Amino acid sequence: MARIPLAIVGSGGMGTRHMFGLAELEKAGLNPFDLVAVCDVDSARAELLAGEAQKHLGRRPVTCADLESAQRAGAVAVDITTVPRFHHTLAAEAIALGIDVMVEKPVGLTIAAAHTLEKAISGSDRILSVAENFRRDPTNRLVKALIDGGVLGEPRYFHQSSSGGGNLMAISMWRHMKDDSGILFDAGTHYTDMMEYYLGPVSSVYAQMRLYEKTRYNPAATGGAPASNPGGVYGQFQAAMPAEFTATADDALFAMVNFESGAIGQYAENRAGHGRSEWARSVHGSAGAVEIPKDRSGEPLLLTLDGKHTYTGAEILPLVPDFELDDATAALFGGSRATAYGLDFETVDRLLLAVEYAEFGASIASRRQPEVGFTEGLRAIALCYAMMESGAAGGTIVTVDDVLNGTVRGYQESIDAAMGADA
Ligand SMILES: NC(=O)c1ccc[n+]([C@@H]2O[C@H](COP(=O)([O-])OP(=O)(O)OC[C@H]3O[C@@H](n4cnc5c(N)ncnc54)[C@H](O)[C@@H]3O)[C@@H](O)[C@H]2O)c1
Repeated sequence: MARIPLAIVGSGGMGTRHMFGLAELEKAGLNPFDLVAVCDVDSARAELLAGEAQKHLGRRPVTCADLESAQRAGAVAVDITTVPRFHHTLAAEAIALGIDVMVEKPVGLTIAAAHTLEKAISGSDRILSVAENFRRDPTNRLVKALIDGGVLGEPRYFHQSSSGGGNLMAISMWRHMKDDSGILFDAGTHYTDMMEYYLGPVSSVYAQMRLYEKTRYNPAATGGAPASNPGGVYGQFQAAMPAEFTATADDALFAMVNFESGAIGQYAENRAGHGRSEWARSVHGSAGAVEIPKDRSGEPLLLTLDGKHTYTGAEILPLVPDFELDDATAALFGGSRATAYGLDFETVDRLLLAVEYAEFGASIASRRQPEVGFTEGLRAIALCYAMMESGAAGGTIVTVDDVLNGTVRGYQESIDAAMGADA
C-alpha cells in the first residue's frame, strides 16, 4: 500500500521523540507513513530534526515553517507537536486544508480554545487523533483489563501521588508559565486521562493548589547537567534558556475526585518537592488492589487479592483470560499478552509513540476515528482544569460539566486573554 505523506509540525523535544517513534515503526516493518516535511517557527530546530530524520529514517524531509508549505511538500497528514497554545489553531487550520491530524495533548490550552477546534471539526470527515501515550503502555492496558474483568471487585478508590523537582526547571521554561500551560496542566492532562480511562467519568472535584517555587533554576544554562531531560533530547535546547526565571504557573495540586460510579480518587502532584522523589498509583476495589508502576517504566504490576494473595508480572495473566494487546503493541512489546517488559524509559517512550502512529495510520486507512479523539482529549483537559479551577478558587467543589460548558473558568480567563485572537 502507498505510504501516507506526513509532516511533523513542531520540531522541539516531542517532535524529535515522535520521529524516533516513527523510526521504531519503520524497524518493525509497520510504518504506514513517509515523513516528507518537518516544520517549526524556529528554522534551526526544523533543520536539526530533518538531520535526525535522515539518520533514523534514511531520507531527509523538507523543512518549513507552516502547514501550507508542508502541504505543498505533499503532506496529507500532520502530527502537531508544538507548544500547547498552538494546538487548536494549527489543528483547525490543518482540517480546513483537508489534512488528517494527530495532535499532542492537550487538545487545547483552555476549554475555550478546544471549543474553537470543536467548531472546526464538526461536520468534517478528517481524522483527529490526540496523542495520549500513557494509556497505551501495556501495563496500563493490563490494569484496565483487571478493572473491567472484575478482578478487583467493585472499584472504590484511585490514588496517585508524586513529589519531586524542587526549584529546578521541569524540562522547559514554558512548563512554569501560566499562559503557556504550566507543569500541573502539562502533566495533569495525562493523569486525568488515566483516571477516566481506568474508572470512567468524573463528576466533581475539590482541590487545593499552590505556587511554591516562584523562582526556578536551569543548571543547563551554565554548563550543568539538565535538571530533567526525558527522552534525552531536551539538553540541547535547555542551554539556550535562562539560568533563572520567575515562575507564574502553580506547581502543586492536591485533589479529591468523585467518579460518577461512586468511586473516590485522591490526587497529589507536588512539582516543588524537596525530599526524595516519590511516585505512587493504585486502584483499590472490594476484592483487591493493584499497585501500578510509573508510566513508561516497564516495571510489573503488583496485584493483591483479599489482602494476602499477591501476583506480579505474568502471574496475573490467568486472571484476565481476555487480555489482548492490539497488533502494533504486541509486535513492538513482545507479544499480545506482554506484562512487564524490562525496557528503559527511552525505549518504552519511543515504542509507545510508535503505537500512536500505527493507530493514526490505521485510522486514516479505515476512516475510523481513533481511541483518543477530540471528546476524550477534551474530557482530559476539563478534568484537569476542574481541579485547578477548584484550587484557584480556594477549594470550592467544581463539576467537570461546569468547566466543559464554561460556567467555571476563573483560572483560565487570563490565559484566554493572553491568547487573544488565537482563542
Ligand atoms: N505525550 C507525552 O509524553 C509528552 C511529552 C512531552 C511533551 N508533550 C507535549 O508535546 C508538546 C510539545 O512539547 P515539547 O516538550 O516538545 O516542547 P518544546 O518546547 O521542546 O517544543 C515545541 C516546539 O514547537 C515549536 N513551535 C512553537 N510554535 C509553533 C508554531 N506555531 N508552528 C510550528 N512550530 C512551533 C517551538 O519552536 C518548539 O521547537 C506539548 O504540547 C507537550 O505537552 C507530550
